[in-house]
Amino acid sequence: MDCPLYEKIANQIEHQVHEGIFLPGAKIPSVRKSSKQMEVSVATVLQAYSLLEDRGVIKARPQKGYFVQENQLQPIESAKIEPTQNDGTIHALLRRLLHASQDDNIIQFGAAIPKSQFLPIRQLQRSVGRLMRLEPEICAAYEFTPGSLSLRRQIAIRMLDSGCQLQPDDITITLGCQNALMLSLQAVAKAGDTIAIESPAYHGVLQAIEILNLKAIEIPCSAEDGIDLDLLEQAAAKWGIKACIVTPNNQNPIGATLSHQARQRIIDQSVQHNFTLIEDDVYGELSYKDKRERSLKADDKLNTVIYCSSFSKSIAPGFRVGWIVGGRFQTQIEHYAYVQSLAIPTLTQTAIANFLENGAYDRHLRKTRLAYQDNLARCQALILEHFPTGTQTSTPKGGFLLWVTLPNTVDAMTLHSQALESNIGLLPGLAFSLTAQFSHHFRLNYALNWDNKTDAALRELGRLCQQQTN
Ligand SMILES: Cc1ncc(COP(=O)(O)O)c(C=O)c1O
Repeated sequence: MDCPLYEKIANQIEHQVHEGIFLPGAKIPSVRKSSKQMEVSVATVLQAYSLLEDRGVIKARPQKGYFVQENQLQPIESAKIEPTQNDGTIHALLRRLLHASQDDNIIQFGAAIPKSQFLPIRQLQRSVGRLMRLEPEICAAYEFTPGSLSLRRQIAIRMLDSGCQLQPDDITITLGCQNALMLSLQAVAKAGDTIAIESPAYHGVLQAIEILNLKAIEIPCSAEDGIDLDLLEQAAAKWGIKACIVTPNNQNPIGATLSHQARQRIIDQSVQHNFTLIEDDVYGELSYKDKRERSLKADDKLNTVIYCSSFSKSIAPGFRVGWIVGGRFQTQIEHYAYVQSLAIPTLTQTAIANFLENGAYDRHLRKTRLAYQDNLARCQALILEHFPTGTQTSTPKGGFLLWVTLPNTVDAMTLHSQALESNIGLLPGLAFSLTAQFSHHFRLNYALNWDNKTDAALRELGRLCQQQTN
């Protein structure tokens, strides 16, 4: 049976909220205006608005009108959502940004790629050279999934620092962490299932969800506390989520690290509501503390957490070496990995295994963490001095990414386009959500060779922002 007219109107407005046309906190058209626009009676609109209030989509404010609830929780049909830019989807935006990240003339505040001075390039060069001289036949051999045993052994040893006791057989080598995330989603969900993600989220997760025809439910994430666990609880109870992808350490882009209590709570929630936790720990080794944080996997008594990571942020993004600890999904994940890529490059796996084995990794990490902290301090000071009043930055406790929140008068996409003309790259907030909610935000990579040029580029960004506020 057809639903009544007021319900159709309510559904239509709810859909517009899901699509990000009306953002959380935004005022929706008044009852009188909607009645005129839709050519229906005022009473019908009032009934529709009252239904939307019951559904928790909008809220009436006396004398002011109706507003979208701040913490909207609804699954989003990812394939239908587009950022509001006129040039199309997140893919189009990212393609442009990726292109910019390969241009040496551009100051790379945009991509989350450390400059080569923060990577042990020299040691890898020696290692690869030696391997090619002494063991050239490794190029002629497939290193079938699950990947090099000596590398898996080294990873098992390293993961002791995160509290995990693993055997090499618990680990599958992947083509970077992105591949590990894809494999996790493929193992736990099928098209149409709902996945909880952090908001803002790493854009690779948004793309994976999009390509697998999954629904995303964006759970607000704060720089201080990380993912909002009360809202995750509500979402799990209301929507029956299949999995939650969470970055407990140095989240990209907001830099949050979960507290000990939050870690325990999210594990308990996953058990209680029967969803899989997909842990993305790609920045886990880059905490500024001497001792890295524990992983969720370490406290996963029921073996339901899937752990994903890689060496892209700390050793060699170009090597594309990552890994996955699939827990009870391990057999299936290994099977998918085998079918999708058959094998992982032998040379890069062996070079990384050798690098880990010779003990230089911890020294390398200590040095880079200190350099990142210096760059962060410099960056925050420049932003404070040159950006418009009201600009805020995150305070990462690790990694090399800063989340900048601009005043509402400054549009980050405009800033991005203007900055590119001055050869400055940045990643606008729109790349981190399937809705248009982060249009006054951008992410800044500070793993750069910091010099006068970088200082000048940040001052220029500040000037461009000031220009928009005038
Ligand atoms: C949070 C997060 N997860 C995963 C990835 C993908 O890592 P990889 O380059 O190893 O595929 C990135 C890369 O930027 C990231 O920031």
